[in-house]
Amino acid sequence: MCGIVGYTGARVAEPVLIEGLQKLEYRGYDSAGVCTVEASGAMHLRRAMGKLAALRARLATEPCPGSTGIGHTRWATHGKPSEHNAHPHRYEGVTVVHNGIIENHRALRAELQAEGHTFSSETDTEIFAHLVARERRGGASLHESVRGAVRRVHGAYALAVLDERCPGEIAFARLASPLVVGLGDGENFLASDVPAVLEHTRRFVFLEDGDTGTITAAGLTLTDVDGRPLSREATQILWSAVMAEKGGHKHFMHKEIAEQPRAVTDTLRGRLGLGDGDVTLDGVDLDVLARAKRIVITACGTSWHAGLVGRYLVEQLARVPCEVELASELRYRDPVLSDDTLVLAISQSGETADTLAALKEAKRRGTMVMSICNVIDAAIPRACAPDGSGKAAGTLYTRAGPEIGVASTKAFVTQLVALHLLALQLASVRKTMTKQALAGDLQALAELPMAIEGLLDGEDAVKAAAARYVAARDMLFLGRGLLFPIALEGALKLKEISYIHAEGYAAGEMKHGPIALIDEHMPVLVLALPGPGYEKVISNMEETRARGGRILAVVDTDDHALDDQVEALFRVPARHPRTAPVLATIPLQLFAYHVACLRGLDVDQPRNLAKSVTVE
Ligand code: M6R
Repeated sequence: MCGIVGYTGARVAEPVLIEGLQKLEYRGYDSAGVCTVEASGAMHLRRAMGKLAALRARLATEPCPGSTGIGHTRWATHGKPSEHNAHPHRYEGVTVVHNGIIENHRALRAELQAEGHTFSSETDTEIFAHLVARERRGGASLHESVRGAVRRVHGAYALAVLDERCPGEIAFARLASPLVVGLGDGENFLASDVPAVLEHTRRFVFLEDGDTGTITAAGLTLTDVDGRPLSREATQILWSAVMAEKGGHKHFMHKEIAEQPRAVTDTLRGRLGLGDGDVTLDGVDLDVLARAKRIVITACGTSWHAGLVGRYLVEQLARVPCEVELASELRYRDPVLSDDTLVLAISQSGETADTLAALKEAKRRGTMVMSICNVIDAAIPRACAPDGSGKAAGTLYTRAGPEIGVASTKAFVTQLVALHLLALQLASVRKTMTKQALAGDLQALAELPMAIEGLLDGEDAVKAAAARYVAARDMLFLGRGLLFPIALEGALKLKEISYIHAEGYAAGEMKHGPIALIDEHMPVLVLALPGPGYEKVISNMEETRARGGRILAVVDTDDHALDDQVEALFRVPARHPRTAPVLATIPLQLFAYHVACLRGLDVDQPRNLAKSVTVE
């Protein structure tokens, strides 16, 4: 999830690009770069590792003249954060910035290398500079060359391309990654997101999948990939600058909840073999995985909840014994960790001190290690990078993009997806699933983004329900099996942003103590989705109702058995038991969000919390 900006007009491009990148830094910040071109065709490229401040410092002594340029702030997906992997990438006078993932970049790289191309980065993006340059050699215009290049790639891209032979022009293309054109007076802009250039214009063309074109100071040319002209209405943006930074959402948390269909799509991209009924886990050493006789998942907070779901998936699908342990406990427990154990650390930030310490302790004891992480090349993935010992299996990255709200939402959902993929991979290696069963899970995963989209459309009903519980002092969340961790997560979301005391419980445990708490002041949210525990959960619900408890329930779309038995119902299309946890999470996130908003609280930065907990 990188940030792109482009400018062409009469001003000096560099400050416009840098200010635009500053507004896009929330999209990624492991390196940044700009490239400008002067009317003479002189091209200037500057890149720096780290946050934008490092690039600014570089430009202070080595400015980039020219009134046309492109810029980029990077969130690494292929190739670790470094200056040589920073965008823009250049080849034969063509420079490119890109946001997205190119799935067939290895095959294209091999094809180009066979023709004599040499590459200077490990990124998928550099492919574009080479493909465009190759088309240009054949005499095609810049726009035609970009169309030719995108026809060769599979994946997602928002692309901006400069060529020193056509100063004053920026070509672009978009598929499954955001890109907007800002229309100015004698100048035009490109950006991943409106806020980047909102101080210069309020007229925007929101590009759609398959759009390609060019901007010059004089105007915009827009076609489809085959060169057929397109016209798109410009939209007048009325947002304030602060609203624009959050994409028009009131809070980052809300924006991040809304981004989940995209985040899941990206996490699945290139990993689902729907046709051949298999999964492809990039960045993971399958030989190490194959040697694991036991898996110990370790994590904190929300990531630990994801781990609890992961245990069910790994044991159910791959029949590998799996335990889950809080990282802060594992380290000090003197655990039995043999060398055929794989310790799997899960972390959004990749920097959580407890998780990192547990992982290092596991390594010290000679276990195999692996991580699931959202931030490329953070400390936890670095500790799991293959090092020749045959013990480090690498990292399976979630591709949620930067998560800014302290309450984790899209990172959790993508962790569930990554764990499901990992369990399927293990099952495939161990042949514990039939081809048909595997295909069923892959299909259910592929359907998730659309199903989440549908749940987000039902937000108003969740908000209305939230209004009834704003004054609650306590709340219980109950679930069984795969839904027990979701009960824990629903309770954590509510407590951390609304400050309502909330507990998640395994529904079957109610009668062993917590049922004593039930009265009309204790709302109970029951996760009652189809599956082996359904009848029992309904019984637990009845026991609660009989004691005056107020019930909210998450039920399957087609289940009407509880319609007149509960105060509030959240319906989710839980057709597949192993993707149901993801879907059940969405209304719980929205519920917590709206309760906290209605209580007038600081949703994005709740009291006493930090996004990344780097102390033990
Ligand atoms: O970055 P990590 O996933 O390692 O962070 C772990 C927890 O600190 C984190 O999930 C925390 O519980 C969130 N605030 C929950 O929303």
